[in-house]
Amino acid sequence: MDRYEQVIELAKRRGFLWKSFEIYGGTAGFYDYGPLGSTLKRRIEQIWREIYVIHEGYMEIEAPTIGIEEVFVASGHVGGFSDPLCECKCCEEAFRADHLVDDIVTCADGLHIKELDRVIAENGVKCPECGGELGKTYEFNLMFKTNIGPGSGRQGYMRPETAQGMFVDFMRLARFYRDKLPFGATQIGKSYRNEISPRQGVIRLREFTQAEAEIFIDPSNKEHPNFQRFAATSVNLYSDEAQDTGVMESMTLSEAVRRGTIAHEFLAYQIGLTDYFLKRIGIASDKLRFRQHKKDEMAHYAIDCWDAEIETARFGWVEVVGIADRTDYDLKAHASISNTELSIYREYTEPRIVRSFVVKPDMSKLGPLFKGKAKDVAEALKLMRQEELEKDRITIIIDGEEAEVPKEAVDFTEETVKISGENIIPHVIEPSYGIDRIFYSTMEHAFEEEKWRTEEEVDEDARIVMRFKNEVAPVQVAVLPLLTRDELIRPSRDIKASIKRKGLLVAYDDSGTIGRRYRRNDEIGTPYSVTIDYDTVENNTVTIRDRDSMKQIRVPVDNIADLLYGLIYGDSEFESAGEAL
Ligand code: ATP
Ligand code: GLY
Repeated sequence: MDRYEQVIELAKRRGFLWKSFEIYGGTAGFYDYGPLGSTLKRRIEQIWREIYVIHEGYMEIEAPTIGIEEVFVASGHVGGFSDPLCECKCCEEAFRADHLVDDIVTCADGLHIKELDRVIAENGVKCPECGGELGKTYEFNLMFKTNIGPGSGRQGYMRPETAQGMFVDFMRLARFYRDKLPFGATQIGKSYRNEISPRQGVIRLREFTQAEAEIFIDPSNKEHPNFQRFAATSVNLYSDEAQDTGVMESMTLSEAVRRGTIAHEFLAYQIGLTDYFLKRIGIASDKLRFRQHKKDEMAHYAIDCWDAEIETARFGWVEVVGIADRTDYDLKAHASISNTELSIYREYTEPRIVRSFVVKPDMSKLGPLFKGKAKDVAEALKLMRQEELEKDRITIIIDGEEAEVPKEAVDFTEETVKISGENIIPHVIEPSYGIDRIFYSTMEHAFEEEKWRTEEEVDEDARIVMRFKNEVAPVQVAVLPLLTRDELIRPSRDIKASIKRKGLLVAYDDSGTIGRRYRRNDEIGTPYSVTIDYDTVENNTVTIRDRDSMKQIRVPVDNIADLLYGLIYGDSEFESAGEAL
C-alpha cells in the first residue's frame, strides 16, 4: 500500500471517509464524510471562519446552490467552463485530453483542442485503459444542468463555484457595508462540477465544498492596510518565470511585492493568510508552495493568480487554494447582462474642480414644438456632444424618427464645477479554498506509521498515529475506564461530563484492552487519553497519556477539565502538568 492507500484505508475503517452509494457499487466523484470525517472537516471550516469572517470581517452569506442561466452566462461559465474531453473508440472510456499529454508537453492545461489532438497523434497516445485508439477531442462543459420548475421549466445550473452568489448580491452587500471599500463577503458551501474522469478520491469530486471570499477593493489602491502582518513571512514561491527554470524560491512577501513577483500587497496579504491557515491546521511547511498561473493557464476572469499547492505522496503537487485578482470582470459582466449599475460612489479626499460641458434645453421653445415628447427631446439633447450641437442642423432620433431641433431651443456652455466623488467599479481579490483537498492533505500530513518495540510486543510492530493539531482533532480527549466495573464507570462518566462542559470534544471508550484503546485513539489522532483506575477511587487521581510522546502523567481529578483545556489550547507543558509515570 502506498501512503494514499494507507490513509484512505484508515479513513474508511475509522469512520472518516468512504465512497458514496457504496451498497449500489458507488459512483466516481462522490464521497461521504463519516462521523469523524465530518467533525474534522467542520473544525477546519471553523478555523477558516474564525480567520476570514471574525478576524478579517468578511461576513458570511448563503446564496442558492442552483443558479439561473443568466448568472452563468454573465460569469462566462456557460460559454467557457469546459475541459477537453476525448473518448476511447474501443472501450468508450472518457479522458481529459490535457491529462493524457501532461508528461509530453509542459502546461498542457492551456492547449487548444486542435493542439491536443496533434500531440496525441504525433506521440501515438492510446487509451490508458485498453490501449485503443482515441477519438477527436472536444470541449465538455463541466456544469450540471437542471430545470427550475415543472415541465421544461427555466434553465438552471448547479453552481460550479460559490463566488457568483457574492457578485450577484454586490449592491446589497455594498449597502450593508455602508458603501465603504474595501469590504468582503464569504461563503462556505457545495459546488458542483461534472468532472470528466474523477479518479483521485476527494482531490477531484463532482460535488465538493469551497470556502471563498470575494474582497471588493478600490482599483486605484491595491495596498493592504495590514500588510505589515505578513511582510516578513517567508513563503515558497514558484513564479511564472521560476517554472521555466524549475527553481522555486523562498522569499518574504515584502520582497516579493518589491521585486514585482507578486503584483500587489492585497494579493500578497492573501497569500500570507493562506500560508498561516494551512500551517495552523497542520500542513507541513516544506510541502507547501505558491505557484503562479502561467499566462495561458489563467482563468478567463483573472489578471494574476497564485495557487497554494500541497505535496502529496501519490498525486504530487495538488492545488488546494486559488488566489486570484479577478479585476472588475464579474461586476461588469453582471451589470451588462442584468442592466443594473454595479458600482460604488467613491468620495475624493479633497473635492476636485473640473471643466464640464453642460447642455441647457429651453423648454419654453421645445414644449410647443414637441408637445408630449418635449421631455424626451430634452433628455436626448443633454446626451449630445459639443461638436454635434455646433453643427448647422441639430438632429435627434425620437421614437425611431429623425427630428430637427431649432438652434435657439438649446444652449450649451462649458462650466467650472466642483465634484466630490465618482462612481467606480471595484476590483475583486478572491481566495478560493477547496476544503476536501485540504481535508485529505491534513490527513496525509498527520499520518505516521511508527516502528517501535514494547516489552509486551517483542516483535517490531507499527503504531499508526494521526498527529492532528489539537485544534482540528475530531476527538480531543478519550476517557478510558481501565475495567468495566461500576466503581470505575461512575467516576469516568463524571470526568467525561466535566470535560464536555468545558467545550472539548470527548469520547468514552470502555471496550477492549487499554493497549488496544490507546492504539485506536492514536489512529484517530486523539491528543490525550485519560485513564481511570483503582487509584482514582483511592486517591482521586487519573493518568493522562500524551498521543505523540506516549508519556504519561498522574494528575488530580479535581481540575482535570481546566488542565486538559490548557494542554489543548494554552501553553501548558505536558510533562510539567503532573507527576511523571
Ligand atoms: P483543477 O485545475 O485541479 O481542476 P481548478 O483550477 O479548476 O482545479 P479552481 O477552479 O481554482 O480549481 O477552484 C478553486 C478550488 O476549489 C481549488 O483550488 C480546489 O481546491 C477546489 N476544487 C476545484 N475543483 C475541485 C474538484 N473537482 N474536487 C475537489 N475540489 C475542487
Ligand atoms: N471561484 C474560483 C473558482 O472556483 O474557480
